[in-house]
Amino acid sequence: MTAAQPVPTNERPIKPRRMDFDMSLLREKYFFRGNPILSTLMYALSASFPDGERFFIDSVRHYQKGIQDPALVDQIRGFIGQEAHHSRIHEDFNDRAKELGVDMDTVDRQFKRRLAFARKRFTPAQQLAITAALEHVTATLAQWTLENPEMGMGTGSEHSPLREMLVWHAMEEIEHKAVAFDVYRTMVGNEKQRIAIARIIFRSFWLQMGLAQIKLLWADRKLPSLRDIREAWNFMWGKNGFRSWSAPEFKRYLKPGFHPNDIDQSHLLEQWSDNYPDVAALQVG
Ligand SMILES: [Fe+2]
Ligand SMILES: [Fe+2]
Repeated sequence: MTAAQPVPTNERPIKPRRMDFDMSLLREKYFFRGNPILSTLMYALSASFPDGERFFIDSVRHYQKGIQDPALVDQIRGFIGQEAHHSRIHEDFNDRAKELGVDMDTVDRQFKRRLAFARKRFTPAQQLAITAALEHVTATLAQWTLENPEMGMGTGSEHSPLREMLVWHAMEEIEHKAVAFDVYRTMVGNEKQRIAIARIIFRSFWLQMGLAQIKLLWADRKLPSLRDIREAWNFMWGKNGFRSWSAPEFKRYLKPGFHPNDIDQSHLLEQWSDNYPDVAALQVG
């Protein structure tokens, strides 16, 4: 363990919001633009969240008692509250997907195996580095989601609970994006390890998603059309597509000395209830 440095912390309080989403409004299996590749991407992401977020919580909790900075102590509490709630809401969504005939159990097993491997093989410091890297993935995905509503993330049926969930989830991911990172910097502080682990995580994340999508399409014996493939390619690699837009954002994380707050996303937090009043209205506590 290296000496603790004063860490820049986000001054904004992190508060879990209780939300009321109606999952029964999800009625079509391939709800996202009717495209099976894009829809299974959403299912794969959602399937990875419940256990993934429990992994995040555990990796931060391992170091919680050693944190002295009262601001960071508060933020850890907020982070745990938000991630625990995300887990539960995504479980509800995943249950609804099962009712629509999506083989979520198979991908759930895939992610469970992956996380069990990480818990067994990696040290607590490495597990925290994995969490910090994945929090950068979610914060990057979140920024893109909130800045590009025209990409239709999660739209496709009239009142898509996925769209509502993603907007709320994205906003809270930005809110707590630096917490695991600051715990890592304070309690571990090994930059070489942070960067080495992030390199592996950034590559394997999309491999895992792709594998899960193939499993879901195979289970449904669904062969995407050429139009589906072209549309999914543009969504990821076209002008302003997520993968092409995010490539430099991922590279920034790999620079020594990087901190998540170097990327200013605060306008997305300040404006979220104005930009998405229908989602803000679902807050019940
Ligand atoms: Fe989350
Ligand atoms: Fe998170």
